[in-house]
Amino acid sequence: LNFNVSRERRYILEVLFNGLRRLEYRGYDSSGISIDSSFISTPPLVFRQEGNIESLVKSVYNDVSATDLNLEESFSIHAGIAHTRWATHGEPAPRNSHPQTSDTGNEFLVVHNGVITNYEVDFPFLTIATSLLFPNARCDFSKNFVLLAETCSMVVIAAPSYSVLKETLVRHGFTFESETDTEVIPKLAKFVFDNANEEGDKSVTFSQVVLEVMRHLEGAYALIFKSRHYPNELIACKRGSPLLLGVKELAEEASRASFNDAKFLSSNGQPKELFLSSDASAVVEHTKKVLVIEDGEVVHLKDGCATIFKFDHAKGKLRPASVERALSVLEMEVEQINKGKYEHYMQKEIHEQPESLTTTMRGRLIRGGSCKAKSVLLGGLKDHLKTIRRSRRVVFIGCGTSYNAALAARPILEELSGIPVTMEIASDLLDRQGPIYREDTTVFVSQSGETADTLQALEYALENGALCVGITNTVGSAIARNTHCGVHINAGCEIGVASTKAYTSQIVVMAMMALAIGSDTISSQSRRETIIDGLFDLPSKVREVLKLDQEMKDLAKLLISEQSLLVFGRGYNYATALEGALKVKEVALMHSEGILAGEMKHGPLALVDETLPIVVIATRDACFRFLLMYSKQQSVIQQLHARKGRLIVMCTKGDAASVCAGGSSRIIEVPQVEDCLQPVINIVPLQLLAYHLTVLRGYNVDQPRNLAKSVTTQ
Ligand code: G6P
Repeated sequence: LNFNVSRERRYILEVLFNGLRRLEYRGYDSSGISIDSSFISTPPLVFRQEGNIESLVKSVYNDVSATDLNLEESFSIHAGIAHTRWATHGEPAPRNSHPQTSDTGNEFLVVHNGVITNYEVDFPFLTIATSLLFPNARCDFSKNFVLLAETCSMVVIAAPSYSVLKETLVRHGFTFESETDTEVIPKLAKFVFDNANEEGDKSVTFSQVVLEVMRHLEGAYALIFKSRHYPNELIACKRGSPLLLGVKELAEEASRASFNDAKFLSSNGQPKELFLSSDASAVVEHTKKVLVIEDGEVVHLKDGCATIFKFDHAKGKLRPASVERALSVLEMEVEQINKGKYEHYMQKEIHEQPESLTTTMRGRLIRGGSCKAKSVLLGGLKDHLKTIRRSRRVVFIGCGTSYNAALAARPILEELSGIPVTMEIASDLLDRQGPIYREDTTVFVSQSGETADTLQALEYALENGALCVGITNTVGSAIARNTHCGVHINAGCEIGVASTKAYTSQIVVMAMMALAIGSDTISSQSRRETIIDGLFDLPSKVREVLKLDQEMKDLAKLLISEQSLLVFGRGYNYATALEGALKVKEVALMHSEGILAGEMKHGPLALVDETLPIVVIATRDACFRFLLMYSKQQSVIQQLHARKGRLIVMCTKGDAASVCAGGSSRIIEVPQVEDCLQPVINIVPLQLLAYHLTVLRGYNVDQPRNLAKSVTTQ
């Protein structure tokens, strides 16, 4: 916070706590906060707690009353930081929570989103050996290598300094209390600050210290620094992980301007508050005016002003950035990030799918007219359609639910474009360094637009010269910014860790993309028009399938104590099987596997007995090409019956009798839609099943054990 009207400590705390509550979906195993004490000469106060945000809130208020810290005390400027954590390095515990600190005097404090890959030595043997050989070895942080020259006559450039951060700091007397990668950052800041002072540079600025720290960090980060030496200032910087600056009550003329001056917030007598956050949901209740911070930018908040610098990697210097982009206005509404009448975000997001799908399609479907064909208009793709049509192949790349959505859309894209479509899980593509060519169109599918593996795969595809298309739900996200073109899914903010409405909107966007790419083929015109009609009807069909809520709750009651659930699908609904199983696994914490029904005889059949519940998706295919699928699934059902399988069959309304022939099954009847849109309908009962199973089993629906919504670390 950085304001020029007085605010009380209570207000400052509440703003920070509310921000954390909004961000809790990104990580929720521990949290922490730092605010100023009454005297600028005393260290900032730091509170860190294991567990959810409310346990932090409780501990802070207990502490405040125990120490007589005055909640009514006013500040005209105050810089506070807070953090909620999803543990990557070190178990959830107060010592591993952020802010991480440089020392007991809290000279430098840091909150971090991301992962520092070079905090520890990669090759311990090398370091131990060099330390023994050259006990006086010292790290020269002003150069980018370790100079080991003190006790011998030769100069040995042993290893880049980035591989010895922690070791070097330990050699310089720092003691580490956490197992986090982050702790090296505040300690490095103190090291830089102390060195500068020892060398007589008493005027070293906060941004110079941070710049020097940045030069030595490898990995992905969004960082905010607070320091006892620089009261009322904050510095934030980023590389890879998301960060935005929110500006409240900016003077009107300034908010309309493009900022081509580094120092853009002059003191104009208006009360203002500045916010830095990993995502918009923590800021939107204060302001909708935000600036998305880009990689290499450094934001300095001081005395009510924000100054932006650019970190010049080549020169290792900070220079004032020409930030020639206007503040964006968030389209998000506060109500969107409240639960409304629902008990859980996941429940709300499942039930709002008719609306989210409508928003996804708004303005993009053209109804046609007497002499005009029905068509699809995707503004973000239209200039690239020719290039896509000429591609050698389309490669879908994503993780988790986003990967499954792409898998659901693959058949229709292949059918309408005639281009081979291959699927890549982002981490696997990176592990294999799989071939990507200039002639490829790569499509990056990501709800958050920030998933680390997907982002790195994007870098890889860019390096290899492929056309990169982004499909994300987050305007201004790294994937949206760094791809050549793309489509926003506009599903609205999704907070439940298990993705639901984003999945269905992603499928719809990719179906529209297939329609747009195939729009130059006359022979498939009528097929395309039928699909467009199907898209218009889709929200009402989803509304219809949501009526199965109670039925799925009853089914959940039957399955509550099961250990395992299999889901069989094929064709368009292989993705439904994977995604349905993923929902059950991630929130209900029940082992569940999606199985390609065509592979049944090659292993899964061995698991079948009268106890293991199996969901078989056997809805009809509208198109002659795939009608075969339905009859093949009927045959699967027969074979499972023959092995006394305990079946739950999802079928098209009116098909119950025919799919039941040959044995008894529990039936889920769903409305029929166009084949390529059927996965949007079929996933809904499985989302409801996963939701109810989780509630009945007593688990946390919105914050499943060990998971996080945005996986911004690898
Ligand atoms: C995490 C989330 C999933 C999500 C996946 C990919 O695992 O818990 O819900 O599907 O990341 O995220 P993205 O934002 O790239 O779609």
